[in-house]
Amino acid sequence: MTFAAPYAVRPLGPQLDTLLDALPLGLALLDSEGRLINCNEAFVLSVGCDLQRGSPLPPTMVIPADRAGLRTAIADALQGATLPVELRVRIAARPAEPLVVTMTAPPPGVRATLLVAVRDVREQLRLEQQVAQATKMQAIGQLAGGVAHDFNNILTANQGLVEQLLARRAPGDADYDDLEQVRINNRRGADLVHQLLAFARQQTLRLQRVDVRDVIEHLVPLLRRLIGEDIELTLSLAPDAGPIRVDPGQLEQVIVNLAVNARDAMPGGGTLEIVTHAVPADAVAALGHRVMPPADYVAILVCDSGTGIPRELAAKIFEPFFTTKDVGKGTGLGLSTVYGIVKQSGGFVFNAPGPAAGTIFSLYFPRAEDDGASTEPPPPPPPAAADPRGARVLLVEDDRAVRLVLRRALERGGVVVTEAIDALAALPLIEDASIAIDVLVTDVMMPGMDGPELIARARALRPGLPVVLMSGYAEPPQRAAVADHATMFLAKPFGAAALLTAVTTAVRR
Ligand SMILES: Nc1ncnc2c1ncn2[C@@H]1O[C@H](COP(=O)(O)OP(=O)(O)OP(=O)(O)O)[C@@H](O)[C@H]1O
Ligand SMILES: [Mg+2]
Repeated sequence: MTFAAPYAVRPLGPQLDTLLDALPLGLALLDSEGRLINCNEAFVLSVGCDLQRGSPLPPTMVIPADRAGLRTAIADALQGATLPVELRVRIAARPAEPLVVTMTAPPPGVRATLLVAVRDVREQLRLEQQVAQATKMQAIGQLAGGVAHDFNNILTANQGLVEQLLARRAPGDADYDDLEQVRINNRRGADLVHQLLAFARQQTLRLQRVDVRDVIEHLVPLLRRLIGEDIELTLSLAPDAGPIRVDPGQLEQVIVNLAVNARDAMPGGGTLEIVTHAVPADAVAALGHRVMPPADYVAILVCDSGTGIPRELAAKIFEPFFTTKDVGKGTGLGLSTVYGIVKQSGGFVFNAPGPAAGTIFSLYFPRAEDDGASTEPPPPPPPAAADPRGARVLLVEDDRAVRLVLRRALERGGVVVTEAIDALAALPLIEDASIAIDVLVTDVMMPGMDGPELIARARALRPGLPVVLMSGYAEPPQRAAVADHATMFLAKPFGAAALLTAVTTAVRR
């Protein structure tokens, strides 16, 4: 290809044509009638159809839906529209791979009216989609977390009330069965709320250094029972994939949810394969997931030979309540839980069609530092509950209904309760040395000052003060104030017995 002066007289001279042909950017020159004067190799490859010098660009080079747009854009540009004109088109030969066409005025001295550049934007689009998807999931997460938080308080209050009503009746009482049913329904609501909180990444995770192989091998009997006899389970677990930092119980939940989905996708039987291996930092780029920063990861792949996931649904499956299953068969929270847990553990989850059929879910967790020590021992089991009678509790909870119920539950257990409607109201009570406090029982999220901050302030005034943190929302996992042994966690909603046990345990620590 030859460009007219002044390009031809540049020092690069004859090499320029070769260079332009090697350029990954497609370039073409059009004359005042829109006819092709010349173009480089990349342009020919990009548009993927025969081009004739002296003829306009063939409209059939793009898909029918984009033809009018391209024609108008070229006409506008030739008639002196403000340049550059840019538009996205899909090439007929490869409609799935959109191109961006930019029309600019050629540099002075080039004998042409229009310089047309085409750029492959697949990569850019993929990134845009990933960002859009991540933003959407975050927004849904916030919404779900907010709803779940409020529901959790309602359920906590109801659970306390129904337990108190049940405690006053003996089995056989006219109301006993109905009350028992209310308690069961409440529990079901609580399970739902927990899944939502998991999705919203607002669970209390007990992060530990674990070996994925151990976790998965430990799960095998349960998985076999879940998937039944018609589905073959195969494992390929690398012995040296490396440790990760997760909550082992939550990781089990993730794998169980994926396995149950795989089972549902293989009603006539098939194979479920679980593979783990290390992904060193320099191999991350090759995975093609641009959102993953380069670092060492441990991969867990869960592959099934089932129905697969239709392309148009793939972007939706992680949304809460998205399900294709019949009413009563699926809630649509399985994958949302998976998503939330993986994200909260600093990992990534993707899904893709399997090589032949079925689906592959791939999870990547950052590899934990090798500190030489073996897997951390699980936290010691709480000592058996003694009697909390006589313990003096400062109860800090901003939700009135919850506070009332908790107070009643504590007082029934013989605990002496002082209450505060939030952290700011609690501080003066903590400062007042004449008020005896054996245990601080506080909510996490409160207006003005949150639970962990209150704990930090309280401990500054009363070192080593035992604390029961009633969590269920926006747990800051690594905050020093909550990550010590004098702090007990209680996930909302909980029953009176759990609260009393926590108080007793906290006092004894
Ligand atoms: N392995 C799979 N193969 C085919 N489709 C799947 C697979 N995993 C998930 N899906 C699709 O994604 C949807 C959402 O899955 P998710 O686990 O979130 O909810 P669910 O299984 O429908 O209900 P729940 O898990 O709450 O009981 C499913 O309804 C199904 O359409
Ligand atoms: Mg499911």
